[in-house]
Amino acid sequence: MTDLLECRAVTRRFGGVIAVKPIDLTLREGEFLSIIGPNGAGKTTLFNLISGHDVPDDGTIVLEGVAIAGRAPERIAAMGLARTFQHGRVFANMSVRDNILVGAHHRLRAVKPRLPGLGALAELAMALIRPPAVAAEEAALNHEVLEIAALFGDRLTPRLDQPAHSLSYANRRRVEIARALALRPRLLLLDEPTAGMNETETAEMQSIIGGLKARGQTILLIEHKLDLVMRLSDRVIAMDDGAKIAEGPPHTVRQSPAVIEAYLGHRAMGEAAL
Ligand SMILES: Nc1ncnc2c1ncn2[C@@H]1O[C@H](COP(=O)(O)OP(=O)(O)OP(=O)(O)O)[C@@H](O)[C@H]1O
Ligand SMILES: [Mg+2]
Repeated sequence: MTDLLECRAVTRRFGGVIAVKPIDLTLREGEFLSIIGPNGAGKTTLFNLISGHDVPDDGTIVLEGVAIAGRAPERIAAMGLARTFQHGRVFANMSVRDNILVGAHHRLRAVKPRLPGLGALAELAMALIRPPAVAAEEAALNHEVLEIAALFGDRLTPRLDQPAHSLSYANRRRVEIARALALRPRLLLLDEPTAGMNETETAEMQSIIGGLKARGQTILLIEHKLDLVMRLSDRVIAMDDGAKIAEGPPHTVRQSPAVIEAYLGHRAMGEAAL
């Protein structure tokens, strides 16, 4: 396996808080790496640095041999990195289908998802002048949307034409993952994909993510639900207070005294549960 992502001494400070202390992280192609750690450990900040939504103060981030720290998120996405957000981000007024198509936009040349506000007349004009190559590309993309939606059983397929705001919370989270997959990412970053989901929904999500792994998808996951982490991860990194406190096979990390202490300390403060 070759290295897909390599972070060296990546650091982020917010005023007096060092949210990410110089941290190293390597991810090989096809690997499933999870990041665990109590609330405020710096996990999401690290994701933001990797995806270009934030810029490190120090250190290097190399994706497929290219230094990406400080590049715009769109440019990093175009290199094949897709992510989802801890608090979920969907385009509320766009349909499920168009939300998913947004994920493919970097591959789109002639076809664009219908944007809210584009008048019916303009849409009709575009439809009338649409050359065959464009129509073929649109058909292929629609097929792709159906395939991706089908990964989520019957959760999204019957709702492709509904606006995202009409969906349940869990379905909105599924749409976000579907959108990330439409980018056909070399690397997929998932920030707490099961947050706020009940046991059934969590089990379903675990099986979907497990399916992606089985297809060879390289995944970097942030997750508090350790059962899921234990089942899916090839390797786990534990963070606390901005620093890496353990790294290795899932069960070794879970049993590490530093990890147990970090979680116990936070539980005593009423935060994350191990
Ligand atoms: N934009 C910001 N400005 C100031 N401080 C920030 C900012 N973003 C994060 N922090 C701080 O950095 C630290 C790490 O936060 P981060 O969100 O990365 O933690 P986390 O491990 O993802 O936690 P959680 O499990 O609760 O999502 C926290 O102390 C947080 O308050
Ligand atoms: Mg977070």
